[in-house]
Amino acid sequence: MTAQKNVELHLHIEGAAPPAFIRALAAEKRQDLNGIFDARGAYDYKGFHDFLRVYEAATSVLTSPRDYARLLSEVLAQAAEHGAIYAELFVSPEFCGGGDLSAWRDYLAAMDEAAQAARRDGIDSRAILTAIRHFGPERARKTAICAAETAGGWVTGLGIGGAEDAGNLRDFAWSYDCAREAGLGLTAHAGEWGGPDTIRDALSLGVTRIGHGIRAAEDAGLLRELAARQVTLEVCPGSNVALGAVAGWAAHPIARILDAGVRVTVSTDDPPFFHTNLSNEYQMLADNFGWSGDDFRQMNLWAVDAAFCDEDTKTRLR
Ligand code: ADE
Ligand code: ZN
Repeated sequence: MTAQKNVELHLHIEGAAPPAFIRALAAEKRQDLNGIFDARGAYDYKGFHDFLRVYEAATSVLTSPRDYARLLSEVLAQAAEHGAIYAELFVSPEFCGGGDLSAWRDYLAAMDEAAQAARRDGIDSRAILTAIRHFGPERARKTAICAAETAGGWVTGLGIGGAEDAGNLRDFAWSYDCAREAGLGLTAHAGEWGGPDTIRDALSLGVTRIGHGIRAAEDAGLLRELAARQVTLEVCPGSNVALGAVAGWAAHPIARILDAGVRVTVSTDDPPFFHTNLSNEYQMLADNFGWSGDDFRQMNLWAVDAAFCDEDTKTRLR
């Protein structure tokens, strides 16, 4: 599987932090993280909202630009080990300086340097600045401003993650308008937990991609619309299985969505939380749906088409 060249569009930087990395940082800072690891040292949570709690607790040890730069180096090296030649990272200025633009610039400078080093080692990357839905629309504006003010280099997109049941995506229109005017690519988590209408809400923001979007499978009209508009789904099957958004690998709707003509791509979301990596995702898809190299090559070409990077980079990735 590692010979395959993968383009990963949906990877949360904090969610990709290995537990050992977080534990080591906590020890350095004498910070107590009791209650977020199980007896074997893995992240310990029960269900989606508890996952968000553990995620934010782990993130609390990442307090400096240097911490984020070290984390980015590690995350990109691990993705490359599983065949990634390009990755888009969800990065939140809320966690990198509390939404303050000048603090964010310091975090960005450190991560940009780490990203350039990783590029020399064979994996290119970009950042999608990410609002946290349960922090609300007002705080999301700060993220959008950070994105608009630092757009152009490593920062090429705006996204939103967090609790999908917290408010309506349409309440974030100001942030999406601000990012669009700055020339950024737009994506949003939707249809992971919420139904087809939450995907329509995301489309109303002008996104070209949907994070997860798997509940589109319940609505034939929406599937037709996604296919016709060539909206790309960032599907993270192992995440959906681990968090219980679907009953299991065999029950995952990815094949039905693909059969409806929708562009699906494959990502890991938060790999150590879900005990997965890109090799495992593709292997499980091969085992459960009978897909092989040509199918996965097509998904990776769609990922390149949908990537928030310049045309020269896309040509190299193809
Ligand atoms: N943040 C990190 N992982 C997430 C997920 N699967 N859904 C929503 N927000 C997230
Ligand atoms: Zn996600």
